[in-house]
Amino acid sequence: MAVIADQCPDVQVTVVDINQTRINAWNDSDLSKLPVYEPGLDAVVQRARGRNLFFSTAVDEAIAAADMVFISVNTPTKTKGLGAGQASDLRWVEACARQVAQSAQGHTIVVEKSTLPVRTAEAVKSILLAAEQSADSPQRTFSVLSNPEFLAEGTAIQDLELPDRVLIGGENLEAIDALASVYGEWVPQDRILRTNLWSSELSKLTANAFLAQRISSINSVAALCEATGADVREVAKAIGTDSRIGPKFLQAGPGFGGSCFQKDILNLVYLCRHFGLPDVADYWEAVVKVNTWQQHRIARMVVQKLFGTVTGKRLAILGFAFKADTNDTREAPAIRIVKDLLDEGAQLAIHDPKVEPEQIARDLKLPASTAPDADSGPTRASLSGEGTWWPAEDIASAVKGADAVIILTEWSQYRALDWSVLGSLMRQPAWVFDARSVVTPAEVESAGLNFWRVGEGQP
Ligand code: UGA
Repeated sequence: MAVIADQCPDVQVTVVDINQTRINAWNDSDLSKLPVYEPGLDAVVQRARGRNLFFSTAVDEAIAAADMVFISVNTPTKTKGLGAGQASDLRWVEACARQVAQSAQGHTIVVEKSTLPVRTAEAVKSILLAAEQSADSPQRTFSVLSNPEFLAEGTAIQDLELPDRVLIGGENLEAIDALASVYGEWVPQDRILRTNLWSSELSKLTANAFLAQRISSINSVAALCEATGADVREVAKAIGTDSRIGPKFLQAGPGFGGSCFQKDILNLVYLCRHFGLPDVADYWEAVVKVNTWQQHRIARMVVQKLFGTVTGKRLAILGFAFKADTNDTREAPAIRIVKDLLDEGAQLAIHDPKVEPEQIARDLKLPASTAPDADSGPTRASLSGEGTWWPAEDIASAVKGADAVIILTEWSQYRALDWSVLGSLMRQPAWVFDARSVVTPAEVESAGLNFWRVGEGQP
């Protein structure tokens, strides 16, 4: 919404949330306190805030004044009840639709921005229709559009400013034109695609499923490369130069994370089963299964290389965010890998330039311990089998005394580490496990360290 405000100075954008603390943070004069870390977002907010971009908790007033309302609430995977573990929890979408139905005035275009299962617009439409027909309410009418978001975290501002496409699904041509004219301020017309509501909703899930499928495909090939002596980077390059395949999303790693891929695929799986297509459901579910397998595989492999046990051993984890340039840890591969290592009794120093230690503790469901003395080696307590972790302030203190370094996020600073210095701080024989292919192998090996990286077999 901030980018819409930035690009369309004549459109007034009001972002509303019932959470006062969050709105205060959006209004904070210190732009480093914005609730979301996203490169370039602070500059966009600075340009537009107070001009035509406002943040407020006055939800009903903002709805009443609006010509268009974007529903952009969370739709996490249900944790209980019907469809638990797969279907999206739509309670907040429904609550929003009801609030819009109650507070809107005149004609209002309601835009689904949240990622939703196919045919959710139907539910939103019925709630709004009931309000249109209600005799005791003032005259009000609605059009519903689906306008899914394709931005990726870390590159959100450039994805929004130069999108591959904008997708608008709907039935009412005037409403579609109205939304298209907002995007038309900065997006070329041929990149604004118009579809029916259901195609638009399904395209969002399908785009994420295809992207995630590429990652599971290349990770499955990475395992085969390790077993056969091939190198996944060479294979990715070789296949990616085929213009029909293309080079993007072929980076093998610790599996995909983030709030969307797994959730959207599971949603697709649920829909397929619901519509009587169990084989199609199994096909897509395999993408998630391979992803989970890859994460357990990496943890297992670390244990194996460290003489079959990490109990009491000090390991440095570099990177906890689900990818670089974000502080987001939702479904981060690091969570599953670190939990497996903790189950094996490892002592983990965790470093991430952006993720707060409190967030790591929440993700691991384990409070941080105090850092043990790096020079004393495994203590009797650490050999008891109880895994512990602590936040490392810098890379050197994470690595000091460690038997292994495990790189799980591709932060740029991890590409430029001085392994001759870091290696001398470690307990020998020491290992570097590079799950993101950010390290130059020769630099690690000439520092006398053992080295593993994803998808590299021994020829
Ligand atoms: C993803 C999609 O890329 C966006 O188009 C979509 O709008 C968004 O989900 C969403 O539905 O909200 P995002 O989750 O922010 O965006 O991040 P991606 O850059 O797609 O990365 C997802 C995961 O895949 C990360 O863990 C990343 O490290 C991993 N990945 C990505 C790989 O392991 N290999 C690759 O080659 C690419």
